[in-house]
Amino acid sequence: MALELPALPYAYDALGPYMSKETLEFHHDKHHQAYVTNGNNLLKDSPLKDKSIEEICKIAFQEKNAGLVNNVGQHYNHLHFWNWMKPNGGGKKLPGALEKAITADLGGYDKMRTDFVQAGVTQFGSGWCWIAVKDGKLVIMKTPNGENPLMHGAQPILGCDVWEHSYYIDYRNLRQKYLEAFVDSLVNWDHVESLRVSA
Ligand code: FE2
Repeated sequence: MALELPALPYAYDALGPYMSKETLEFHHDKHHQAYVTNGNNLLKDSPLKDKSIEEICKIAFQEKNAGLVNNVGQHYNHLHFWNWMKPNGGGKKLPGALEKAITADLGGYDKMRTDFVQAGVTQFGSGWCWIAVKDGKLVIMKTPNGENPLMHGAQPILGCDVWEHSYYIDYRNLRQKYLEAFVDSLVNWDHVESLRVSA
């Protein structure tokens, strides 16, 4: 089954001023499209081509297939990234059950925010920071390039893209400001909670 680029779940200008139309046009239409195109080229003659995207991520990582890890991994990561944001999102308006889990496992909202932003800031070079479910508990993680928590025995429920293509147009080199805006003004916490419940 070929990888496909889905449409954004909102208008290109819907996330302003925190993420601009120009950023989303480049990020979705050029960068995500490139992962889809490259992933399909790599999968064409691969025995993994009929597996689910999640299975391909895990197996490609075990087999140290860097091309599939990065391109199919990035396809998976971006499929979710678009849905981890919404207009008027972010901040402390969390579903109650998610807030409880964050308090129990991550030391409360404020500590989670600090640790999530810190994970993104300290990811050297390109990569992602995450909240994932591992062994039944929420954990903060960071991964390089196209890797994701699936490849490390965990289920991601929130991720922020810290590749420069995700923030350089709007924030230049200020990665921390971008991460803070993501948590404070963009996260779709209802979607995060739905993933936590099904993890
Ligand atoms: Fe990206």
